[in-house]
Amino acid sequence: MFKLNDIGIAGRYVFFCLLFVCTSAWADDDSDWLIARYGVISNDPGAFNRAYETGRERATLCSYCHGIDGNSVKEGVPNLAAQNPLYLWTQINHFASGERKNFVMQALAKGFSHEDKLNLAIYFSANKVRVQKADLGRAKKGGILYGRNCAGCHGNLADGNQKFARLAGQKQAYLEKTLKMFRMNANTPNSAAKAVRRSKKMEAVAGSLTDEEIVNLAAFLSSKS
Ligand code: HEC
Ligand code: HEC
Repeated sequence: MFKLNDIGIAGRYVFFCLLFVCTSAWADDDSDWLIARYGVISNDPGAFNRAYETGRERATLCSYCHGIDGNSVKEGVPNLAAQNPLYLWTQINHFASGERKNFVMQALAKGFSHEDKLNLAIYFSANKVRVQKADLGRAKKGGILYGRNCAGCHGNLADGNQKFARLAGQKQAYLEKTLKMFRMNANTPNSAAKAVRRSKKMEAVAGSLTDEEIVNLAAFLSSKS
């Protein structure tokens, strides 16, 4: 039987490097597929409409929680409407691989082909998000903090891209819950081991946020169009 001990220190080094290169190459393949396929579809109005319609049909599976148009109808569930399509696809893919954990989302995502995920992403991203009402004083404070600490990645308009989520118009409860989760992962190594979602970048930012700042950020973002 093959044992790691048999190959010595140098061998182990090569083994783990190969493992790393191979697994990151798989991830790149997924991303390459996504960018190429999305490029083709978004430049062909007929293909775009077919993707949108197919996505709309499948979206009945999602409507119980995310609403039929992607404006969520349940507490703690994120809006998908107007979210960046490449980000949506990437997150569905993370649920499918188990990198991000949620019982229902993982069960659903596992059954989808890359094309199914893209149809859903195209459908939801093309819909309008309904912004929410928020306390103006809090939103103003949250806006200042956002400009200082978040806009560098999530964008001045908070409209996101493939890697950084759109945050404008996101549900207040989901924003608060998610920021607290990143903060907990940053500050509690034991719970981080069981974390449902890891992000070094977000943990670095969220680790030092106070409850007050989180509420203000969520007020600003959930009411921003
Ligand atoms: C039973 C409720 C439920 C159903 C049905 C459901 N979802 Fe979700 N979904 C959730 C919850 C809860 C989360 C947030 C998990 C978390 O906190 O990380 C989520 C997160 C997501 C995210 C990540 C969004 C983000 O901002 O990061 C995407 C994308 C998504 N769902 C797509 C779908 C799609 C597509 C379907 C239908 C095929 C679907 N969901 C069906 C409950 C549901
Ligand atoms: C250095 C880059 C960076 C900065 C700065 C940053 N973020 Fe993020 N943020 C990310 C990344 C990357 C993700 C996606 C993580 C993933 O893929 O799971 C993310 C995800 C999020 C999410 C989850 C979105 C969703 O739909 O699930 C929220 C909420 C969020 N960030 C809020 C903030 C706020 C508020 C700030 C400022 C206090 C901030 N971020 C600053 C990189 C950043």
